[in-house]
Amino acid sequence: MATIITLENIGKTYGKGTSAVRALDGVDLNIEEGEFVAILGASGSGKSTLMNIIGLMDEATDGTYYLNGEDVTRGSDARLTKLRGQEIGFIFQKYNLIPKYTVLYNTALPLLLQGMSYAKAKAKATEVLTRVGLAEKLKAHPAELSGGQAQRVAIARALAAEPSLLLADEPTGALDKKTGEEVLAFMRELNEEAGKTIIMITHDLHVATYAKRTIRIEDGRLTGSDRTDNPPL
Ligand SMILES: Nc1ncnc2c1ncn2[C@@H]1O[C@H](COP(=O)(O)OP(=O)(O)OP(=O)(O)O)[C@@H](O)[C@H]1O
Ligand SMILES: [Mg+2]
Repeated sequence: MATIITLENIGKTYGKGTSAVRALDGVDLNIEEGEFVAILGASGSGKSTLMNIIGLMDEATDGTYYLNGEDVTRGSDARLTKLRGQEIGFIFQKYNLIPKYTVLYNTALPLLLQGMSYAKAKAKATEVLTRVGLAEKLKAHPAELSGGQAQRVAIARALAAEPSLLLADEPTGALDKKTGEEVLAFMRELNEEAGKTIIMITHDLHVATYAKRTIRIEDGRLTGSDRTDNPPL
C-alpha cells in the first residue's frame, strides 16, 4: 500500500523569544492510502496546527514532510497551492459554503478555479452530489439545507477534485448528535466503500471511534495510537 503522508520530527514554534509557543514537537507520523485516522486531543493540544501543516496551509519550523513521496516541507507557494487543490479535500466544522451560490455551483467552484471547463465541472459536481445523496438539491442554496445536508455538500465539494486525502477538522462540531452520527457513518462508508483516505481531528472520543485508528496528541506531542475495527452502533 502506498504511503500518503510521512512526517519526520515535525515541530512548530509560533512567535519568538519569551513569547514563543511550541505548538508541535517531534511529531513522527505515517498515513497509508485507505486509512481513516482520528487525531484526538484537548483544546490547545496542537490539532489545528498539525492539520494546517498536513493541509499545506502552514509550514513546520523543523522536521520534514513528504506528501505522496514528495518533500513538501518548504515547497514554493505555486507548488503548494497546486497540491492543495489536487491532493487535499478540506471539510470544516462550519461547512464554509458560499451563501449566494447554489449547491451545484458551490461544489463545482474548486474545479472551476483549477481551470476545468464549466460543462465538465458541472458534470463532476452532479456526480459527487449524487454520491452524497443530494441529487435533489442541486439548485438549492445553502440556507435552504439542514446542517447534515450542508455538511454533505461540503464533503461533495471536498471529493470533487478526487483528492488523495480528505482532511476534516471537527466535521460534526456544528451538528446535533444524531445528524453528526449520520455524517460520521457516511465518512466511514466513503472510507470503506470508496477507499478514501481520511484524517479527522476531534476532541471527542466518541467521534474518534468512527475512525479505524486513533492517534492522541497532548501538548504538541503524539502520545499513543490505537485501532477500532468496528464503528459504534
Ligand atoms: N497563530 C498562533 N500564534 C501563536 N500561538 C498559536 C497560534 N496558533 C496556535 N497557537 C498556540 O499553539 C497551541 C496549539 O494550538 P492549536 O490551535 O493547534 O490547538 P487545537 O488542538 O487545535 O485546539 P482547539 O481544540 O481549541 O481548536 C496553543 O497553545 C495555541 O495557543
Ligand atoms: Mg483547533
